[in-house]
Amino acid sequence: MAATPLLELKGVKVRYGVIEAVKGIDMKVNEGEVVTLIGGNGAGKTTTLRAISMIHAPAEGQVLFQGEDITGVPSHEVVGRGIVQVPEGRHIFPSMSVYENLEMGAFIRDKGDRKGLGEEVERVYELFPVLKERRKQAGGTLSGGEQQMLAIGRALMAKPKLLMLDEPSMGLAPQVVETVFDVIAQVNSEGIPVLLIEQNAQMALGAAKRGYVIETGEIVLEDRAEKLLGNDEVRKAYLGEE
Ligand SMILES: Nc1ncnc2c1ncn2[C@@H]1O[C@H](COP(=O)(O)OP(=O)(O)O)[C@@H](O)[C@H]1O
Ligand SMILES: [Mg+2]
Repeated sequence: MAATPLLELKGVKVRYGVIEAVKGIDMKVNEGEVVTLIGGNGAGKTTTLRAISMIHAPAEGQVLFQGEDITGVPSHEVVGRGIVQVPEGRHIFPSMSVYENLEMGAFIRDKGDRKGLGEEVERVYELFPVLKERRKQAGGTLSGGEQQMLAIGRALMAKPKLLMLDEPSMGLAPQVVETVFDVIAQVNSEGIPVLLIEQNAQMALGAAKRGYVIETGEIVLEDRAEKLLGNDEVRKAYLGEE
């Protein structure tokens, strides 16, 4: 028998009023995996993420985490269980220092527990040495790439069992995108599973083990990432090839 997936979506539908933005999707993330959900603008990627984190709960279907049904539980409880997301557009605290931003990450999950905070911060600094250099600087003064690292670092401070990233490469220069993807690989190599949402299909499929393609709220393809990279439909629709 196959092991229970870490995360499982079963027939998840999400509505905004009468509009059905996600139309009954099935997805899985297993322990240790990087899984990517790719699709164009407006396909329903962020909506799917917000349904998993219960910021906007599914209208129908179930979300299971570690085999338990978490559909409809309050979003803070979802974080408490270890599902931590880095939202689209990063949302760091611009006037707080880098260090304070990281500190806030620990409180997202474990209110008031300062034990081990120093160790966690050091771990994040090891992953992102530039954040250590800039630890006293206000978050808002960092470059786009550095802010993305800070947002990911802050999420790691909450000790995620699943890290969800919403378009981490958005608006970043190609070289910085490379760095961010290196970081994702490094985070995963520490055993943290990642659900990676991207429009940048090339990079995302390069980083992931498996992928799902979403179009107008439906999963139209799912496969091993290397298979999707070689798929003609994917190449035409998402990799700009003729
Ligand atoms: N708060 C909202 N109210 C109404 N419609 C929304 C809202 N957020 C997103 N949508 C619609 O849902 C669909 C999916 O959006 P979204 O999940 O943000 O797509 P993606 O992240 O793939 O770009 C789009 O048609 C979008 O216009
Ligand atoms: Mg989005």
